[in-house]
Amino acid sequence: MPALRVPKGEAELVKGKLKKLNLYDGKRRPKIEGDFVLLPVFEDDRLHSLGYEVLDIELPLRPERQIYKNLESVLAERLTKEELGHLRRYDVVGDIAVVQIPPELEHRVDDIVWGLLKVHPFLKVIAKKGFHEGAFRIRDYSIIWGEKRLETVHRENGVEIKVDLSKAFFNPRMKGERYRLAQLVRDGERILMPFAGVLPYALVIARYRKVKITALELNREAYELGLENIELNRKRLKGEIEFIHGDAFEVLPGLPTYDRVISPTPRGVDALALTLSKAETWLHYYDFVEESEIGRFRERILKECLKQGKECAVRVKKVSDFKPHVFKVCADVRILG
Ligand SMILES: C[S@@+](CC[C@H](N)C(=O)[O-])C[C@H]1O[C@@H](n2cnc3c(N)ncnc32)[C@H](O)[C@@H]1O
Repeated sequence: MPALRVPKGEAELVKGKLKKLNLYDGKRRPKIEGDFVLLPVFEDDRLHSLGYEVLDIELPLRPERQIYKNLESVLAERLTKEELGHLRRYDVVGDIAVVQIPPELEHRVDDIVWGLLKVHPFLKVIAKKGFHEGAFRIRDYSIIWGEKRLETVHRENGVEIKVDLSKAFFNPRMKGERYRLAQLVRDGERILMPFAGVLPYALVIARYRKVKITALELNREAYELGLENIELNRKRLKGEIEFIHGDAFEVLPGLPTYDRVISPTPRGVDALALTLSKAETWLHYYDFVEESEIGRFRERILKECLKQGKECAVRVKKVSDFKPHVFKVCADVRILG
């Protein structure tokens, strides 16, 4: 990812200039290097005309926790210590905040709305979230403040993602994971991506790498938003995305094999054998696993590799906590032969 190498004394001034030009990537942290500061920026031709060196470097993303802490400190003015203890993490998707209001804070909804607007004055909608439902993993939401819509454009990792939370799955917390994958991918790869949703993974990877991605989604509305997203980002993408509307279990058997398969598998779906059979060098397989079962999950993958006559190295990484002791994990499966 690009960064601008600026002398320390000029950093604040240049940062302000970059912000005005919409080139500053506030989701990543700047880094001090001797007498210089590396400022995180979005890739753009204009960077090269600013008179500073442009580096390709991995600057860490700011933790989500930080924005949560801001809300907590703003609300400390109005809520008791005990009430603050009931606050849950929330998400900001474009100009929509998505919150959980536990029963203990139902009487504090107006204060929470006030606090969110103080921390994020750009918000247009605040919605309360319910559970993910059905095969398409769409959540149930009720709008508690603002415009009556759940459609917005979310900016992440240098791409714009049109989402409609009432029609398709989208999880902003996966931005770090999408960034991680984009770093692993190399130019020239052919990538298969079933369960692609509105294309967040595909867009981020194609933004930074010259690859050919074949993505697949069953939910017609997510598929149509994905097509819009390809157009929305057309000028930013280095790679190509072919998007198919269909059922992964029906379409994949008829497709060839790919260098890399990325499977953001919906919860409760077992697509391991199918996705592994389509991978030549790498499979990134997501699943939801109890902490005590992670070892067994890895063994299950190794067994499937053996069954398919593949020699594999498997590393399982916790991606996010899902509920107490249950994690969303990603198995990075390297196929050695
Ligand atoms: C966990 S979501 C991930 C979506 C997307 N990759 C993202 O991270 O935003 C799983 C997606 O798989 C889709 N899906 C469920 N069953 C499917 C199937 N049999 N074939 C293709 N897509 C399917 C759902 O509609 C949903 O968009």
